[in-house]
Amino acid sequence: MNNNAIVYKEIEDIQLAKEVLRHPSFGVIRMDQYLEKLQELTKEDLGLLIRFSKKSLIFQSGESHIESRRLIAHFFSHREVQRWRDSIGNIVEDIMADHTSNDIEVLSDFSDPLFVSSMIMVMGIQVKEEDLFLEHIKIAKAITEPLLSKKRLRRIQISLEYLINLVKESFKEKDYEEQSFLSHIKNKIEKPWDKYEELHILVVSLIIAAHTFSETFVIIMSKLASPMNDLWSKTKDFEWLNKRIDAFIRLYPTTQSIGRRVIKDCNILNTQFQKNEIVYIKVPIVNRNPIFTDEEDILSGTEEIKCPFSHVSFGGGIHKCPGASLSRMIFMEAFSILASKFPEFVLTKPLNTKNVSFMVSIPSDLQARLKLMSDI
Ligand code: HEM
Repeated sequence: MNNNAIVYKEIEDIQLAKEVLRHPSFGVIRMDQYLEKLQELTKEDLGLLIRFSKKSLIFQSGESHIESRRLIAHFFSHREVQRWRDSIGNIVEDIMADHTSNDIEVLSDFSDPLFVSSMIMVMGIQVKEEDLFLEHIKIAKAITEPLLSKKRLRRIQISLEYLINLVKESFKEKDYEEQSFLSHIKNKIEKPWDKYEELHILVVSLIIAAHTFSETFVIIMSKLASPMNDLWSKTKDFEWLNKRIDAFIRLYPTTQSIGRRVIKDCNILNTQFQKNEIVYIKVPIVNRNPIFTDEEDILSGTEEIKCPFSHVSFGGGIHKCPGASLSRMIFMEAFSILASKFPEFVLTKPLNTKNVSFMVSIPSDLQARLKLMSDI
């Protein structure tokens, strides 16, 4: 037997998953070490990818990770994100006003434009070519995937370069949203603002991770507007939605697995872990742990359920998703406006999803036909 073979373990239990996510004996997977080795072997210039995998939030660890989280914590807190609510409502109205036909493709006509406009407003970035920006986001976000080919890594590096430059240029612009994230961090650093690559990488890591919002939006929409239940008529009620949004996020995660590396031998809840083992938390299985409310009860809309701490759709521990409150707020605002404006939101085809890898499953399209209140 090869003693260097990597051991993979899968976790399907909620208690164990939560312990692993917060336990100091587990760390994030070291992408930088892998890329450095690859660069050495292939002589390919992976410099930017390596710098990104050292400085982006999702791969950072120790003091530098804590520092980055401190920098963003207040800005993305539940309380702070509520100030964007009215502006998100205006964005939703504008997107629908621009759309002239009754047929809509939810991902490309609605949730992706909502994602781009929200990022421009909340993050304060300048996006001149929205389609190109989106294309680069979709390529760059694959960086968290395991076992990427060299060709794919090259494409990711080009997209990251584009996004880092976009953020760098945005720092130079004067007329961006005063309450935005760029404004927030500009107050903490000295001029010239465009020299801080670490901060540009931090902003890019937030923006690419944030696209999960758009994909999750489409999947939840397919459930809320499904002809199999009568949830759409209730969705316009903000309070009804508020009590259930977390249950939908729990039931329909796009992230299928969260990976961790064992840093130190340990025994947790009677499970032995050894240094260097790789652990994958199976998100949909963990979230459907039988001690929680049944899916049918949630979808029937009779069960009033709010379960913010009983799932791992946003991860957990120190790497827990910092965009959770922002996502919940935008979901609620957008779904409730759509449901009151379009009482008939008929899905014309079932949801299509594709498994990008064993880690991520994303919707490819969701077709719907809309009827305005005044048409009924
Ligand atoms: C429904 C929408 C979203 C879902 C389901 C989601 C899910 C997740 C998950 C599962 C993780 C943990 C990954 C890990 O531990 O390995 C994570 C981390 C992260 N998310 Fe989200 N996310 C969403 C929206 C957002 C938004 C809107 C933002 C930015 C504004 C964002 C930024 C991040 C960042 C930067 C991390 C890494 C944090 C760290 O490692 O310290 N996410 N997200």
